[in-house]
Parts: sequence; structure tokens; C-alpha cells
Amino acid sequence: MGGHGVIQRYREFLPVSEDTCIISLNEGNTPLIQSHNLVRALGGGFRLFVKYEGLNPTASFKDRGMTMAVTKAVENGVRAIVCASTGNTSASAAAYASRAGLVCVVLIPEGKISYGKMAQALIHGAKTIEVRGNFDDALDLVRELGTRDDIEIVNSINPFRIQGQKTAAFEVCDELGDAPDMHFLPVGNAGNITSYWTGYNEYRDAGKSTSLPMMMGWQAEGSAPIVKGHVITSPETVATAIRIGNPASWEQAVRASEESSGAIDCVSDDEILDAHRMLARTEGIFVEPASAAGIAGIVKSYARGGIPPESTVVVTVTGHGLKDPGIAIENAKASSVVVEPNIQSVLDAIGME
Ligand code: F0G
Repeated sequence: MGGHGVIQRYREFLPVSEDTCIISLNEGNTPLIQSHNLVRALGGGFRLFVKYEGLNPTASFKDRGMTMAVTKAVENGVRAIVCASTGNTSASAAAYASRAGLVCVVLIPEGKISYGKMAQALIHGAKTIEVRGNFDDALDLVRELGTRDDIEIVNSINPFRIQGQKTAAFEVCDELGDAPDMHFLPVGNAGNITSYWTGYNEYRDAGKSTSLPMMMGWQAEGSAPIVKGHVITSPETVATAIRIGNPASWEQAVRASEESSGAIDCVSDDEILDAHRMLARTEGIFVEPASAAGIAGIVKSYARGGIPPESTVVVTVTGHGLKDPGIAIENAKASSVVVEPNIQSVLDAIGME
């Protein structure tokens, strides 16, 4: 059942034994795409690689942590898993629970998860509960449910999630031959920046890489508790995946940015949407808005002179664009043209003689 997922590939770095029954959907091994066009559009001078995590089985990076968390939940003999989610964790939990034969309960903020993510929770048969509140309210409820011994929490407060997600840093090092100079990524509940930093450190300590990147985390301006230094009680952003006001791994994220001489900063919704469209138009890479926060962070850092010449930069784009088709259609700033079924109408519509 293990297949070729991240546990099988990196088992020496993960808390599994010979007897562990691995629950996998062959996650990981996602493309690291060199992006010349985007760099050229900005003005040149560095090397950029996009880690396209939208190509995981449920179309986000969450699958790396979920294979580990669900594998351990089964090993521990629980019957049900639960999570709070802005949509991707719930999609992943729902899929891996189906594969493992577990009951899955997901608590999501009412009306604030994208269409694709809702479809995933429902089609996999998760008990889907919309909470009249935000992600932070849902996570508080999940913490209470998790005190029972028959339910395992699979949010990133479950340490196995971080363990699984650190494999993305291993893949980057394996592919580049060493760690990059800088690593950009969006920050919501702050589990992923914690995971990458753990992974980069473990790989260096094991002699598989020789250096550590500066960790550059990006929140959305209306949901930027770490940047502002206080909990945001009513977080807002177009990037619903990172609409979080009180991240669970707050301290670990600050530690990652400080220890790596990196930063946690924020970008506006307009900057996120511009980056969302720019990545799709210049590189053919379609991501959801939250994932574009890291791209917007690169644009901002570059403009400030914050990306040293000749550096190797990696950006994780965390979720697929089809998760949120509504935003994409709006943000494309283009529309289709309806024509009569004859060639002249088509030629007229595309502006050709
Ligand atoms: N990008 C996407 C697409 C996400 O779904 C998330 C988090 C993040 C970035 C931020 O990662 O939380 O580790 O800092 N989504 C969670 C969820 C909160 O419930 O799906 P993080």
C-alpha cells in the first residue's frame, strides 16, 4: 500500500518502522520548474525555481504531512481523524481517510473556502461542518475534540504533519544538489515554514546538503498576525487559504525566519492577485491565490534590492489554481467571445484577416 510516496522515499528521516502500514497516494516528487520568464520580467540577475506542490494527489502540499499523520493514526488504532481547515487540509484529510478506511470530520469557516476544496471534502465523504466563525474558531473546537482518545487531530499541531512536510525541503536539495540561498513561501497557520526549516536543517546535519537558505515567509496584509505582532481577530484576504489570525506554529515560524536570517513579511491582496496572473501568464503555472503570496513576496523583495545577484531562489507554490476557479475567472481580466459558427466570425473575433 506504501507505493512511491514521501514516506517510502525518505523513511530513514521519518518516524516509521518496518512494520508500519503506510497510507499513501504517491504524494511528493513534485516538479521544481526553473522559471526564466518571470525572472526576465522582473529584470534578471538571479535563478528561480518554482516547487509546484499543486501537483500532489489532492492538489496541495498538505498531502506530504497527511500521509504521515494518517499512517500514524492507523498505527495508533484510532477510528476517526479531525481537522480545522481553510480547505486544503480538509481535502487532504478526507482523501487519506478514505484510503485508510477512517472516519473524517472537517470543520471549515462558513462560506470561506473555495469551491474546489468543498467539492473534495464532500466527494470523499468527510463529515463536513461549517462553523459560523473563522479558521481560528474552528481550530479551537478541534483542540477540544482532540482531547478524546478515539479521535486524532491531523492539523499541523500534530507533529507527524511537520515530519511529512519536511520532505519537500529534501526534494529541493536532492534536485538542486544543495540547499538554495533563499526559500520563499506563503504563511498561514505557519506549519509549512516550520517544516521546511526542519527539513533543511536535518538534511544539512546528515551531510546531504552543505548550507541553509534564508526562509522568506509571506502573509496576506489583512491576515498578518506575525508581521503585526498581535492576533488578528477578524482576518480578511482574497487568499482564503491563509485567512488566519492566530497561527498555531507562530513561534516556530519566527524562529525559522530569525535563525535563517530571513524574514516574515506581508503583501496586499492586489499584489497577490497580480502575482497570481503574472505566474500564469509568464510561466504557464496556475496556482491558487494563497500560493501567489510567495511570488508576490519575490516581486516585492526584488524591487527592494533584497535578492542578491546570482542567488538561487526557490518558491513553493502550495496549491493548484483549479482549487479556486471563481477567483481565476475574475482575476484573468479577460473574457471569452461568443460567435456564430462560421470561420469569418472566428477570424473577426481573433483579429485576423
Ligand atoms: N498555501 C495554501 C494553498 C494553504 O492551503 C495553506 C494553508 C498555506 C499556504 C499556508 O501554510 O498553514 O502551513 O502556513 N492551509 C491550511 C488549511 C491552513 O487548512 O488548508 P501553513
